[in-house]
Amino acid sequence: MKKAAETIIELKNINKSFPVEVGGFQQVLFDINFKVKSGEFVAIMGPSGSGKSTCMNIIGALDTPTSGIYELYGQDVTELSSDELAIVRNEHIGFVFQQFNLLSKRNVLDNVMLPLMYRGMSMAERERRAREMLKRVGLEKFETYLPTQLSGGMKQRVAIARALAGDPKLILADEPTGALDSKMGNEILKFLKKLNKDLGITIVMITHEFDIAKYADRLIHIRDGKINYDGKIPRNDDKL
Ligand SMILES: Nc1ncnc2c1ncn2[C@@H]1O[C@H](COP(=O)(O)OP(=O)(O)OP(=O)(O)O)[C@@H](O)[C@H]1O
Ligand SMILES: [Mg+2]
Repeated sequence: MKKAAETIIELKNINKSFPVEVGGFQQVLFDINFKVKSGEFVAIMGPSGSGKSTCMNIIGALDTPTSGIYELYGQDVTELSSDELAIVRNEHIGFVFQQFNLLSKRNVLDNVMLPLMYRGMSMAERERRAREMLKRVGLEKFETYLPTQLSGGMKQRVAIARALAGDPKLILADEPTGALDSKMGNEILKFLKKLNKDLGITIVMITHEFDIAKYADRLIHIRDGKINYDGKIPRNDDKL
């Protein structure tokens, strides 16, 4: 019998409000409930301002909900201190952002080695691991380049190598192709798909485009801070 996939992410009645001027609050997420199991590739889609990044920041333990419970690997993240949250992020999650977030004054190899700083690995071991990841994204010849000397697609591949270096089971990608032209964007999406299929890495990807969401196997659609669709990728986006 096939082993049931482990639940990696579970959001239970998550609400999120931000303070606004003159003492009020703006509620951005309303009773969000979903689970993500090991090996899934999920797209979170919705219009600008619908709450996608707010939701992703909670999933990535970068922010905490106003109410509700968020469990990562069965552990209630809302109870952890900020130091403990940093460890959870570093050990379990690879992040990929729209603007790549590379250190512009550090070369490609240094950028990929960065998340391994806190792992108690020797320098030689960190270098070996970072080179292996650069090879995986096809950039082994560019390790001494600075990010400014690379194309957007190459920068995103460096960011993916950096995300992979820590050997995460989960990758969170917020508009990973948002700053790329469609050819480079497709290349990155195919690469994420391959990581999911070949290595079984769970991926949660934010996008506001249906054509990008189609690379995933499941779509969660958010509108005005509420989930209005959660299921297989529909044939078209007419009903979203
Ligand atoms: N730190 C914050 N403080 C106050 N309001 C915030 C904060 N972060 C987000 N918001 C508000 O929450 C709402 C949702 O923002 P969010 O960034 O989650 O949207 P999004 O779906 O990711 O949009 P986009 O597609 O434009 O990236 C917006 O109205 C935004 O102004
Ligand atoms: Mg956003």
